[in-house]
Amino acid sequence: MIERIDSLQTQALQALSAAEDAATLQSWHTLYLGRKGQVGELMKLISSVPKEERPAFGQAANQLKRSLEAAYEEHHEALASRELAAELEHQGLDVTLPGRPGGPGHLHISTQTLRQIIAIFAEMGFQVYESPDVETDEMNYGLLNMPPHHPARDMWDTFWVSDELLLRTHTSPGQIRVMRERCPEPIRVILPGKCYRYEQITARSEHQFYQVEGLAVGHSITMGDLIGTMTHFARRFYGPDRRVRIRGSYFPFTEPSIEADMDCILCAGEGCRVCKHSGWLEVAGAGMVHPVVLQNGGYDPDEWSGFAFGFGVERPAMVKYGIDDIRLFYGNDLRFLRQF
Ligand code: FA5
Repeated sequence: MIERIDSLQTQALQALSAAEDAATLQSWHTLYLGRKGQVGELMKLISSVPKEERPAFGQAANQLKRSLEAAYEEHHEALASRELAAELEHQGLDVTLPGRPGGPGHLHISTQTLRQIIAIFAEMGFQVYESPDVETDEMNYGLLNMPPHHPARDMWDTFWVSDELLLRTHTSPGQIRVMRERCPEPIRVILPGKCYRYEQITARSEHQFYQVEGLAVGHSITMGDLIGTMTHFARRFYGPDRRVRIRGSYFPFTEPSIEADMDCILCAGEGCRVCKHSGWLEVAGAGMVHPVVLQNGGYDPDEWSGFAFGFGVERPAMVKYGIDDIRLFYGNDLRFLRQF
């Protein structure tokens, strides 16, 4: 019996070394190691072997199986790398072929929203005025009626570049810049741009986000003009069915001050984490330009009046498109970005 095992091994190894391609190798595997292969058949003979020879036979048969399996693996690997080498030699690799082109991209949802907002205000005669992201302490706070140690500075803390320079907290410092440039002309501008805050990131708050500031300075401008402008914007941007809520607020640079909320589309007013369970999402701060700020811009508050507002951009987009987490905007997940 043991001789039979030896001769099967010799025969199988010879056949294996003659297998020069994948198909022959596969047939070899079926013939010797397959379910009904010769090694399997040999195993079945164990019951017919005399009892005293069985342990030695069993051991030898198992040893045969293991050694044929190892020889097969080795041969298989050698054959695969030979075939790959031959393929590379014959077909080669054409490095001059053009790469696969990436699909065309599109504007980020923040840019799209920003452009929609700009277009609506352009219809109302507002020009776009750009002001810098890196601001002075004086522009960001001081000239907006927040001298050093004013408590409102805490609410708008930011990233400091030096003791005097910072990344602007809001687009409001642009009000001073545009007034100083245009004085004594009347003004109707919007100031879009990035803002930065030392702030806890949550589903509704980022530490970096866009705002669109608005400023109108003229004679006899009233709160009615401000509310009319904001309501018209809301209807154009969200459609006639969205509801706007105006409520009294406080900003050091406007007097009186208001805030505008939109009804929360995400929870249909029921309350969710984005609207802080109130059913309303704050989208803008606004008010009549404070006399001190008008003066800092060069305008005499006894002759001139004005209104100002500051919208977020991501939050209005959240309300419009039903996005329930502001962190999605800058998470760079294409599955999100491709939807807009
Ligand atoms: C201001 O920034 C004032 N400068 C707005 C203003 C301008 C008032 C002119 C009066 C006159 P506030 O901090 O509330 O206010 O921000 C205004 C809007 O920016 C918010 O309504 C919201 O839409 C957006 N916003 C504020 N903080 C964040 C944040 N962390 N993440 C995303 N959006 C924000």
